Amino acid sequence: MSLSLGARIKAQVDDWARFSSEEGQLTRTFLSPEHAQVVEAVIAAMTDAGMSARLDAIGNVVGRYEAETPGAPALLTGSHVDTVRDAGPYDGNLGVALPIACIAELHARGKRLPFAVEVIAFGDEEGVRFPTTLSGSHAIAGTFDPAVLTVTDADGVTLKQALRDFGCQPDNIPAEARRRADVNGFIEVHIKQGPVLEREDLPVGIVTAISGASRFRIVVDGMAGHAGTVPMGARQDALAGAAEMVLAIERHAGSNPALVATVGRMTVEPGAINVIPGRADFSLDIRAPENALLRESIAAVQHELRAIAERRQLSVVLEEQYMQEAVTCDPRLTQTLVDSVTRCGHRARRLPSGAGHDAMAVAALCPMAMLFVRCGGGISHNPGETVTAEDVDAAARVFLDFLEALPASKD
Ligand code: HGY
Ligand code: MN
Ligand code: MN
Repeated sequence: MSLSLGARIKAQVDDWARFSSEEGQLTRTFLSPEHAQVVEAVIAAMTDAGMSARLDAIGNVVGRYEAETPGAPALLTGSHVDTVRDAGPYDGNLGVALPIACIAELHARGKRLPFAVEVIAFGDEEGVRFPTTLSGSHAIAGTFDPAVLTVTDADGVTLKQALRDFGCQPDNIPAEARRRADVNGFIEVHIKQGPVLEREDLPVGIVTAISGASRFRIVVDGMAGHAGTVPMGARQDALAGAAEMVLAIERHAGSNPALVATVGRMTVEPGAINVIPGRADFSLDIRAPENALLRESIAAVQHELRAIAERRQLSVVLEEQYMQEAVTCDPRLTQTLVDSVTRCGHRARRLPSGAGHDAMAVAALCPMAMLFVRCGGGISHNPGETVTAEDVDAAARVFLDFLEALPASKD
């Protein structure tokens, strides 16, 4: 008995999950050897689906399924193939495998559309290796900042060097920017990464907007000292200060249900059991659905952390490493998606995305829409992330309906 379309897509993503830097878990960072492995697998899948496929100058894989008339404008779709540490397999990757499998269906039927379809496997959405993110989608949108090429990873390797080592040509990044006339729109299929669809027993959802997000590196400096001889009242303990700051951040975000803030990473120096920490270096990820609220919150948190540092005779430096404003999904493209969801027999549940996506960057280029797929318990950024073949099949049927319903041009 042949597998359903959904089951084939799920199996493809499960297969790609073996490309990891860690045995027994999934970690695949930008421009890593495991990223190179999944690039090869994606190119093979695209080619089998009747697409042309290439690695672009910034490490994206770009597959193109030509239109009835070669060279016609393209609908862009896709998602990211990089992952967080100890990730689930479907975050990002599902949004690459699903469109490829749907194109393979069209190809098998000898069906061409009035527009081309370009599936893009973005290489840098999670921003785990380098203190930047969305570099691949910014390049496509023409909003890539070349200054980013000088940022370094934990080993001091610049993004520019890593691209060269990967076989990419950073000097050609500007040429990857798409002309507006060549693009009809962008649709990203992505797991929901939250419990709403499961709570309402819905296989798919339609995204209305994506929250804005800002990421900081925060460095607190105090005075290292002897754990046994410095009285508690005379310490400049960088870690104790950072701990108070983390709780202040949590308190601030907890004061407004629209806000979320996370400290996901911290290093302490010198890191010895009998030394009062002289430095604490930690991350801050803060998000809000409205840009004004995000900016206000950033200012409030900065003020509060500086007050804590002053009271404890510490210094604190907050470096904003990334800011991506909130974006709204295009009403017309989203309505086409709503119509497809309804035609496929599902309730068209509209909902916002607290998670960031490549679609945020591509929205600067063209109309953007997103289709969410239910994931088990809403769990994500966790190896316990799951989807069902039935839900993936439902999403694939919606995606195929959307392709067939989309007008030839965005105007
Ligand atoms: O952080 C995010 O929202 C996304 O998973 N990069
Ligand atoms: Mn993610
Ligand atoms: Mn994602």
